[in-house]
Amino acid sequence: MSAEVDGRRKRLLGVVASLRRGGNSEALVKVALQAAAERGALVDIIHLEDLRLGFCDGCLACVYKGDGCRKAPDITWLLRTAASYDGVVVASPTYFLGPPAQVKALIDHGVMEFPRLGTRRPKPAGAIAVAGRPGWDLLSLSVTSQLAMLLGGRLVGGFTAYAPGPAEVLLDPETVGRARELGLAVLEDRSLPVEDGVCPVCRLPWDAGPLQASSGSEAGPGPCPFCLYDPSRPEADHRFTAVHLARHLAEWMVPSRERFLARREQVRKAWERLPPAPRRLRPDRGPGGDEGRGRETDARSGRQ
Ligand SMILES: Cc1cc2nc3c(=O)[nH]c(=O)nc-3n(C[C@H](O)[C@H](O)[C@H](O)COP(=O)(O)O)c2cc1C
Repeated sequence: MSAEVDGRRKRLLGVVASLRRGGNSEALVKVALQAAAERGALVDIIHLEDLRLGFCDGCLACVYKGDGCRKAPDITWLLRTAASYDGVVVASPTYFLGPPAQVKALIDHGVMEFPRLGTRRPKPAGAIAVAGRPGWDLLSLSVTSQLAMLLGGRLVGGFTAYAPGPAEVLLDPETVGRARELGLAVLEDRSLPVEDGVCPVCRLPWDAGPLQASSGSEAGPGPCPFCLYDPSRPEADHRFTAVHLARHLAEWMVPSRERFLARREQVRKAWERLPPAPRRLRPDRGPGGDEGRGRETDARSGRQ
């Protein structure tokens, strides 16, 4: 039975990236999980609203020490939790042509996974992008797919749903059907067919306006500018495979650190030659104004 693995029931995790309660992302994740639950899966859900996300400050201690991020313990928890499931379904809204800031914050923190990529067992993952209006969602599914790959490893399917009002998408039976189908595909670890005209890895449209300039040729599309999938070498890595990212770590990140350390003294002198610091402005928070001044951002309010 597809809902079992190693003699136990499969566990699927849904991740709701929207901070809007009762929204379309939440609705579609629940539909996808419900389809899997009906086939015997155990299902759980995480709302980014419940996590303290914070922003990656680029210290890269997670990469060089390999022990998660002390400044963002909830993200470390999320990544470890997702890795313990048999599959993941992610849904994100669209804010100004792509997912909102909390999704990017999470993807940036994903750098902490790089040291573990070699040992990570890829799990099936599904991505749902929700947008209000067709044509206003160029990056939504590609970035949501990137997040799904970070949390799962192997994308088995994804689609974009269109509905502006909260949970309005539930009135569209076709989209509800696609969410169910995606939940089952993740459960069964089965890839869904890819629509024509989009990159089969990240779903970026091949004819995405100026992006085509970097990918088009008379022989057909070249590598996808977003995920680097190359249709002439479909078996090759793309940017988000564990192998590719591990190579990026070994061939770029580690040497760039060593190069920096070798030039640290030169950098310090160049820094000292900078003109005197301009006045740094901060909002006046009044008495007791340190409230909420920590590094972590409250995911729901966006406060830092
Ligand atoms: C600040 C903001 C920006 C938005 N920008 C876009 C956009 O660029 N394109 C689009 O199609 N919809 C846009 N929308 C609409 C949402 O994507 C849409 O309402 C979606 O259903 C929200 O998903 P949710 O219910 O899961 O939060 C925007 C909504 C908000 C609040």
